[in-house]
Amino acid sequence: MAKIIPVPVFDGVVFGATGDLTLRKLLPALYYRFRDGQMPEGSRIVGTARSALSDDGYRAKAQEALEAHILHDDLDSSVLRRFLASLHYVAIDASADNANWGGLTELLDPERIRVFYLATAPALYGPTCRNLAAAGLVTPRSRVVLEKPIGHDLASSQEINDSVGAVFTEAQTYRIDHFLGKETVQNLLALRFANTIFERLWTSDVIDHVQITVAETVGVEGRAGYYDTSGAMRDMVQNHLLQLLCLIAMEPPVTLNADRVRDEKLKVLRALRPIPPHRIGAETVRGQYGAGAVNGKPVPAYRDDLGAREPSTTETFVALKIEVRTWRWANVPFYLRTGKRMPRKISEIVVQFKDQPFSLFPDSAGQRQPNRLVIRLQPEEGIRLEVMTKDPGPGGLRLSPTVLDIRFDTAYGMRFPDAYERLLMDTVRGDATLFMRRDEVEAAWTWVEPILEAWVAAPEPPRPYAAGSWGPTASIALIERDGRTWNEDVA
Ligand code: BG6
Repeated sequence: MAKIIPVPVFDGVVFGATGDLTLRKLLPALYYRFRDGQMPEGSRIVGTARSALSDDGYRAKAQEALEAHILHDDLDSSVLRRFLASLHYVAIDASADNANWGGLTELLDPERIRVFYLATAPALYGPTCRNLAAAGLVTPRSRVVLEKPIGHDLASSQEINDSVGAVFTEAQTYRIDHFLGKETVQNLLALRFANTIFERLWTSDVIDHVQITVAETVGVEGRAGYYDTSGAMRDMVQNHLLQLLCLIAMEPPVTLNADRVRDEKLKVLRALRPIPPHRIGAETVRGQYGAGAVNGKPVPAYRDDLGAREPSTTETFVALKIEVRTWRWANVPFYLRTGKRMPRKISEIVVQFKDQPFSLFPDSAGQRQPNRLVIRLQPEEGIRLEVMTKDPGPGGLRLSPTVLDIRFDTAYGMRFPDAYERLLMDTVRGDATLFMRRDEVEAAWTWVEPILEAWVAAPEPPRPYAAGSWGPTASIALIERDGRTWNEDVA
C-alpha cells in the first residue's frame, strides 16, 4: 500500500452539513482519511446548517450516516469515537445578512488552514462568502470548496464566480468535479504521460475515434427538484464528461503543476467546434426515460419519478458527436453519451485505433478487429488493450482478439478510495490540479450553451427510451451513420 502522508492539522467548515452530500459522501470520506492516519487528530470538522442541533445531536446524525455508508468491517469503534469527537456543529443561516457568526468564530483557530466547503445550493455561494468575509472569518490560509453545478449557464456561472471571487482569490477557490478524483481518471495522466507507447500513438494518424460513456442505472432518486431544472447536459456533460474528454485530448503539460495541467485542458475546451444550429439534429441526441425494467425490476417513467402533472422536457440522456479542432485530433470524432436508467452502471473511455491499412492474412484467418484501449472508470476499474493474436493449435492460422487486461482491484488488492477522499485532502494540501479553474468552467458553458438553447427552441421534446435500454435509437444512429458502433461489450 502507498505510504500515507498526513496533511497539516486543519479546520474544515461544511455548509449544508445535514444535507445528502455531506452525510453520504463527505463524512464517510473524512472518516476513512482519519482512520488511515491522513487527517491528523486535533483537526476539527464543523458542520453548519440552519437546524438547531447540539454537537452531540450532530454526532449522532453523523454516526447514523457513517453506519449506513461505510462497510461494516471498516467501522472501528474506537476510531469512530475519536472521529466523532472531532465533529462540531454550529447552527447558522449562512446566507442571511444578520446571521450570528459568534459560535464559529470562537471555535476556529486563526492560524490553521481553514477549508470552507459549500455543500449548498449554488445560489447561496455568493451570500455565504460575503458573510464569511464580513464576519472576519476569511484568513490568508482559508480556501473555499464549491460543488457543481457552478451556475445554470455562462452568465449565471460568471455571476457566481464573481461573487465568490470578490472574497477568495482564484488560488483559494476549489471547484469540485468529483470525477477528477476517481482513481482511474487520475490514472489517465499516468497512462498517457508515464508510458512511451501510448503517447506516440495518440494522434489522428492512428486513432479512429474516441467514445466516452457514463451510464447509470439510477433514476433521479430524491433529487427530482434539482434534476428537473438541470438535466443530463448540465448535470453530467458540462462538467464530468467534458473533463474526461479534456484529459484524453490535452497536450502534455509542461509540468504537473495545477495551472499547467489546467492550461492544457482549457485549450481543449476552447478547441471544441461549436455545433452549428443546423447540425444539432445530427450531432446531438437528447432522451428521456419512460417506464421499463432495470436489473430485472420494473421502474417508472421519469415523469412519474418527478410526480409532475405537466410533462417535462428535461433530458435524462444525451449523446453527442464532438470535434476537437486541433492538429492532433483532426477527423477523430469524440462520441459522448450519458444517461440515467441504463442497463448497467458503467463509465468507460474507449480509444478505438484505425484498422490496418493492409492485411497479410487470408480471409480464412477470421475477421480482424482494430485495436482498442478501454479505460474503465467504474465499476471494476482497469485498463484493457485489445490486440489480435493467433488461436493456439495446429489447425491452421486463425486470429482472434485477445485482451491485455489490468484490473486495478486485483492488481493492487486494496480498497479504492472514494473520489472525495482524495479531493478533500487536496484542498487541505493546497493542490488544485484536480479542480476546475474558473476559465475552464466558463469555456465549458460557452460550448454547451448554444446546444441547450437549440433544444429549448426545438419543437420536438426529448426522444423517449425505455428504462433499462441504452438510450433512444437515434443515439445509435448518431454513431452508426459514421460506420461505427458504441461499445456494448461491457460484460
Ligand atoms: C453527480 C450527478 O455529479 O454525479 C449525479 O449530479 C450522478 O446525477 C453522479 O448520479 C454520478 O457520480 P458517480 O460517482 O456515482 O458516478
